[in-house]
Amino acid sequence: MTLARQHRIQVVAHRGASEEAPEHTLAAYRKAIEDGADALECDVRLTADGHLVCVHDRRVNRTSNGRGAVSALELADLAALDFGSRRNREFWRTRDEEPDWEFRPEDREDTSVLTLERLLELVADAGRRVELAIETKHPTRWAGQVEERLLVLLKRFGLDAPAAATESPVRVMSFSARSLHRIRAASPTLPGVYLMQFVSPRLRDGRLPAGVGIAGPSIRIVRNHPAYIERLKRAGHQVHVWTVNELEDVDLCADLGVDAIITNRPRAVLGRLGR
Ligand code: G3P
Ligand code: CA
Repeated sequence: MTLARQHRIQVVAHRGASEEAPEHTLAAYRKAIEDGADALECDVRLTADGHLVCVHDRRVNRTSNGRGAVSALELADLAALDFGSRRNREFWRTRDEEPDWEFRPEDREDTSVLTLERLLELVADAGRRVELAIETKHPTRWAGQVEERLLVLLKRFGLDAPAAATESPVRVMSFSARSLHRIRAASPTLPGVYLMQFVSPRLRDGRLPAGVGIAGPSIRIVRNHPAYIERLKRAGHQVHVWTVNELEDVDLCADLGVDAIITNRPRAVLGRLGR
């Protein structure tokens, strides 16, 4: 066993256990908690009437039986849709067989639109520490409203101002440095994760945008630029990698000493890590 493998890597369920239940549904998050995930990842968007909902795409077309942009729909419109719908082809395409549970009317809550508030309740009731990695989507367009609503909601759960970043069960992730800056300005101890799809020449030396402590590189960056990951670690940053679904990539991440693995398959990744 290498030295790197001796540290405990956090396993984060990406959009819930989204290989086993439709992404961003209560069913997927319940499954992730049952599977033993350390943390849950979710994307948040604002509805037309100002609610934060967990939806990845700008539109609901891919993941529900409805149509339209989240920002143009009210929460009541979204609540009428089914996010376990077979129109969620990306999910259903990966199924070899029917799942052993069905979308029955009594299971309606499991696959209807998930508000961030409901997800926070689920985490609060988990019976053990489950962390939450919340990704702000398209914050530029909403000019601060996503972050503003997010902080109001976190405050209601007593999560907006942790005593220290290292103790916070919630972190905010974004591809937008501006979004992270807004959060930091209002709540300096709430940890931020700067997501990266490529290595910006500006940050090649392992620096992150001012005040951000955690790097969030894609697995492609990790595969192609392992030395960059080592540089981030040497610079004192935590490294949270997305989206790691291949077990060989789990080994690579462990060897490089990353701090968190974000995956659609938390059970499989935990198994690979010997947990
Ligand atoms: O966890 C970060 C990752 O989710 C970013 O990409 O497109 O899946 O939101 P995306
Ligand atoms: Ca995301």
